[in-house]
Amino acid sequence: MKGIIFNVLEDMVVEQLGMEVWNELLQSHTPEGRVYVSAKNYDAGELFAMANGVALRLNMPLQDVVKAFGQFLFKGLADRHLDVVERFTDFTSLVMGIHDVIHLEVNKLYQDPSLPTISCRISRPGHIEMNYNSPRKLCLCAEGLLFGAAEYFDQAINITHAVCMHKGAQQCILHIEVADE
Ligand code: HEM
Ligand code: ZN
Repeated sequence: MKGIIFNVLEDMVVEQLGMEVWNELLQSHTPEGRVYVSAKNYDAGELFAMANGVALRLNMPLQDVVKAFGQFLFKGLADRHLDVVERFTDFTSLVMGIHDVIHLEVNKLYQDPSLPTISCRISRPGHIEMNYNSPRKLCLCAEGLLFGAAEYFDQAINITHAVCMHKGAQQCILHIEVADE
């Protein structure tokens, strides 16, 4: 995972739990002297270990923490890549552009990013079907990111996620219901 993801995690932990907790997490789960550089690659296992640490401290299931982080992450990514997000004027067009515009741009800006395969189609007006596939199985993070994007555009949405890699499916299918824009 890119350092930028850890940078946003740090912002969330410091904001919600304090700098001391972040330093404790670093101490318990990372090599001595770890500093995250946004464009550099770090082991995804390190991210999971940190997220697990947060889950233990908050007495929350790991997947709830991953989802909450995803929601926080959208704003963190948008702030750091405003030019990319500003290409979209509404929630639906941004979601339709995740794979071919946003993550394509990420591929140009970062060396060897670990991106998921995402494809979206409008199944009928107000309904987006998103297929998600990644060896990291971060579909709950994707859900959180979608809620973060909805918040960003002040858009009400609803997500159902019945077909899931965590339940043995080959890929996840997220049905996103978009209230009238
Ligand atoms: C990684 C989904 C918007 C940049 C990821 C991951 C997911 C995801 C689930 C985790 C990796 C994985 O699953 O294998 C989404 C969704 C978005 C969205 C659903 C919109 C609702 C954005 C935006 C940016 C961005 C706006 C920045 C312009 C990145 C970067 C990574 C990433 C830098 C990390 C790659 C790495 O660690 O190597 N995205 N994304 N994404 N995304 Fe997105
Ligand atoms: Zn899933």
